[in-house]
Amino acid sequence: MSLQERLNESKVLNANDENRLASLVKDKIKSGKYSFNTDFESKSEFKDKLFVLINNELENLYPSLKFFISDELVEKILSDIFGLGILEKYLQDREVTDIFVQDKEMIIIKNGSKIYLGEVFDNIEEVYLIIDRIKAHSNKIIDQRIPFLSTDLYEGSRCSIVIPPVSDKVYISIRIFNCLDFSLEDLFKIEMFDEKIYSKIIELIVGKKNIIISGAMGSGKTTLLNTMAKLIPRNEFINIIQDTPEIRLKEHPYVRLLATRSRSRETDNEINQDKLLFETLRMKADRIIVGEVRNSMSAYQLLQALNTGHNGSFSTIHADSSLDALLRLEILALEYKPNLSSKVIKKIISRSIDAVIFLESETDANSNILKRKIKEMALLEKELSEGGEFKLEYL
Ligand SMILES: Nc1ncnc2c1ncn2[C@@H]1O[C@H](COP(=O)(O)OP(=O)(O)OP(=O)(O)O)[C@@H](O)[C@H]1O
Ligand SMILES: [Mg+2]
Repeated sequence: MSLQERLNESKVLNANDENRLASLVKDKIKSGKYSFNTDFESKSEFKDKLFVLINNELENLYPSLKFFISDELVEKILSDIFGLGILEKYLQDREVTDIFVQDKEMIIIKNGSKIYLGEVFDNIEEVYLIIDRIKAHSNKIIDQRIPFLSTDLYEGSRCSIVIPPVSDKVYISIRIFNCLDFSLEDLFKIEMFDEKIYSKIIELIVGKKNIIISGAMGSGKTTLLNTMAKLIPRNEFINIIQDTPEIRLKEHPYVRLLATRSRSRETDNEINQDKLLFETLRMKADRIIVGEVRNSMSAYQLLQALNTGHNGSFSTIHADSSLDALLRLEILALEYKPNLSSKVIKKIISRSIDAVIFLESETDANSNILKRKIKEMALLEKELSEGGEFKLEYL
């Protein structure tokens, strides 16, 4: 039965009709027959416009009939054309924190547990289509010559892609930031830390102390940092240096977001954290937030900045304990300034950093995250011990 015959029979579209109608509308948009400006402010504007187009298409086909256009149909066409297809559903799910695609298979992490979804793509071309959309949004290239792509998705999640022949399969890894709506109080309520630590964190923020948040990958460092940054007084200049725009402060009027940029075919110069830190010092920021300290030069420059009166700064670092976080900072800084002694660097660190927080995730036997917690919170004394070591006072 043809689509026309089917539509004449009923005013409700069935799944098959919807699919065919969807591809009709998609083809027209893609071929430019409908001028569809994609610079909308919000997704609902997007949807409204699409609804009108679908309606037009139906009216053209069957001028005398009225059809019911379901919200699901509009949503489906929307995510097929502009979004990331099957990934969309999980990007919107507040309980999903990570999505992994490996060739046609997909795995998600929901409420801390890995869930294997099986082969959700019919063929590898569909996966490459998604990569194309991510690529188009990022204005970056991924191909045989540069088989990696690290970028943020249109809704702010962090995405990295590796393709063969560097890897055995196509791998897409997405870290979703669905907890950015959290406040520090929310984290307290879900028992990420106790009342004593809660009030201490607030005291440190208000007192413009420099805080390092440490922990393993995915332990919640960026999420905690973001909730802390929300408590910074609104009238301060805040410079945020990060690789992808994970930290966002909607309520603060004086936020300067600075993002690093890797070298690519379109831009032959790399912009590193240290370059942005250097600029930050000239911008007279009241607070500096470094999303994650990664390289030796920026570790050293951050310490210098903190040492020269930039108080109230936060940053995160990968480490296995509070002490380990300080030692990692020391190693990074020493790498940059090998002519300085370890003791001098330690002195600089103890004068620059006021507190270290260490996050740990409780996991079950299958590495599923059960809970994220502040395992340690320690204040760092300004002076080293007689033996030249850091003096940490654990709360
Ligand atoms: N307390 C929490 N409860 C539930 N989910 C959380 C919590 N904290 C963070 N998350 C979620 O867990 C994921 C990892 O958090 P986040 O990115 O903050 O970790 P991270 O330590 O900064 O990771 P990375 O080392 O990769 O930068 C995110 O999707 C975040 O939304
Ligand atoms: Mg992080």
